[in-house]
Amino acid sequence: MRKKIVAGNWKMHKNAEQTEDLLNELIAKIPTETTVQVIVAPTFINLASAVDHLEFTNIDVAAQNMHQAESGAFTGEISADMLQNVGVNTVILGHSERRAIFNETDALIASKVNTALEHDMTIIFCFGEELKDRQAKNHFNVVEKQLRDGLFSIEKSDWGNIVLAYEPVWAIGTGETASPEQAQEMHEFIRETVRKAFGSDIAEDVSILYGGSVKPENAKEIFSKPDVDGGLIGGAALKADDFVAIINAI
Ligand code: G3H
Repeated sequence: MRKKIVAGNWKMHKNAEQTEDLLNELIAKIPTETTVQVIVAPTFINLASAVDHLEFTNIDVAAQNMHQAESGAFTGEISADMLQNVGVNTVILGHSERRAIFNETDALIASKVNTALEHDMTIIFCFGEELKDRQAKNHFNVVEKQLRDGLFSIEKSDWGNIVLAYEPVWAIGTGETASPEQAQEMHEFIRETVRKAFGSDIAEDVSILYGGSVKPENAKEIFSKPDVDGGLIGGAALKADDFVAIINAI
């Protein structure tokens, strides 16, 4: 049985005090008996305190990015070792904002993937087409290429560390969600692509999250689809009640 996961990507929101407040609310409101793996990704500067704060809870912490090098003259960057040293063993890589705003290519993302795996970290690997790709009916090709060029150089044995997050760029922060049918169609294609390259066991075991304007109002229908194993949540992860409602929708 593959894992159900709901991850909150806080992006560049919440200072230290606000981070603590939101974590306290989440600790109080997320049912302790939930079978869903809950992950939050605050900003770099608040990761260490978040790990401490969540030590005796069922909430995990992820970083939103990391550098591919072990160390060096990379002003403003954070390494895998630095993350692990403060107790962060999960990292989001390939987010569309990293790709579009910070010019991250598939090749760069692949090298970050390799570094994270060398550190035995869990990777939430993000990918998804832009609106122009979907309008040109090229979305399946784009997604397949992102997977092949950014991820598929890994070994079969690495798949236990991989979570996939399909996020159509046109649905991120826009209020425009992929319909449950569009999400299912793409998730099925993604699983099939993994199956062709790595076999059925891996394809059946990997969790594929959907991201893009997931809200309490639409979460249940999206999560009801057989190949949707949870969500990567942006805006709605910043309000405890909304995030918890999304967790409870699985
Ligand atoms: O990482 C999360 C995604 O970018 C989704 O963001 O829920 O605000 O659309 P959103």
